[in-house]
Amino acid sequence: MNVLQQARYGIDSYMDWLKAEGLRVVGGLAIDCTQVETADWPRVGTRAAALHLDGRGDFCNMFLYELAPGQSTIPQRHLFEQVLYVVEGGGNTQIELPGGERWSFEWAPASLFAIPLNAKYRHFNGSGRERAVLVSTTNLPMMLNLFHNERFVFDNDFDFDDRIGKREYFAGEGVLNLVRQGNDTWETNFIPDLERIKLQDFSDRGAGGGCLIFLLADSSMHAHVSEMPAGTYKKAHRHGAGYHVMCVGGSGFSLMWYERDQDFVRIDWKNGVVFPPADQQFHQHFTTSAKPARYLATGFGSLRYPFTSARRAEILGEKVAFATSTRDGGDQIEYQDQDPRIHPMWLAELAKHGLKSEMDRFFPR
Ligand SMILES: [Fe+2]
Repeated sequence: MNVLQQARYGIDSYMDWLKAEGLRVVGGLAIDCTQVETADWPRVGTRAAALHLDGRGDFCNMFLYELAPGQSTIPQRHLFEQVLYVVEGGGNTQIELPGGERWSFEWAPASLFAIPLNAKYRHFNGSGRERAVLVSTTNLPMMLNLFHNERFVFDNDFDFDDRIGKREYFAGEGVLNLVRQGNDTWETNFIPDLERIKLQDFSDRGAGGGCLIFLLADSSMHAHVSEMPAGTYKKAHRHGAGYHVMCVGGSGFSLMWYERDQDFVRIDWKNGVVFPPADQQFHQHFTTSAKPARYLATGFGSLRYPFTSARRAEILGEKVAFATSTRDGGDQIEYQDQDPRIHPMWLAELAKHGLKSEMDRFFPR
């Protein structure tokens, strides 16, 4: 132990907690959630892993839960927020309200839901034959580093009854708020199928794309789903860290780079692959499937509770910064301004898949 450690400097309470839990940690630039090797996690009573992706930033992590056929988790409650996505399998989750009443809802692949802060909950795998895989994006790193007290976070009986939401929010219903492109929201706690939910126009990001942002359990966790039509790609953009991008339908690839980089980092994705672009790293998404590609992004800082002033400025600004050209002070690269290597690279990739580009309508020549 060096003098700085003896003085108790530089403590990471989240990492200390993780080590004490003995939970398996998987890292990397991108992770295929269908292939993660899990280990027993006694706290939860199932196999699990913590996913630490390179670009996750300081506030968020992911937990992956693997429920064996017929298995359920030990009931949990905790002072961190989380949004869960169903990678594989089917089952249900039971939420216990402060008065003891229980609400439950059934999920399947591509369902998304949030657990209200400090609500008691339990997941059940409804199949006697197949495993279920759930992946949650949480703000536990922030909460443990803030309170650095495990008991306060995991053994706290405060009821946030203002966070539970309406019962129909757990039945797939919600409230649609149409504000402007890139800011349209669906307030709910549970989305049965992200592949089927109707999206709103977000053509400002290019190529006839759609998007819908979720306000979940009145929390600070962000989630949105975007779609790119077959034969298209989006414009590049950048923002803060911690937005975990996960493919929910179709396939494709993404390029990531920093402003002065000579080359791109490429990530190929299909169902279940997750990666978070790092802080202010440009990223651009491309489809290579014959059907539209959809992806989910989860992170910290919701439209309602942005948490940081940078995120609040993005949301309340006159223009949506990550949908405004870098020429106008925004964080989006218009098609005509993009690196000239990108479009031919895209056409070559499409040719490999025997697909036709639909970009002529959008790409100025
Ligand atoms: Fe992004």
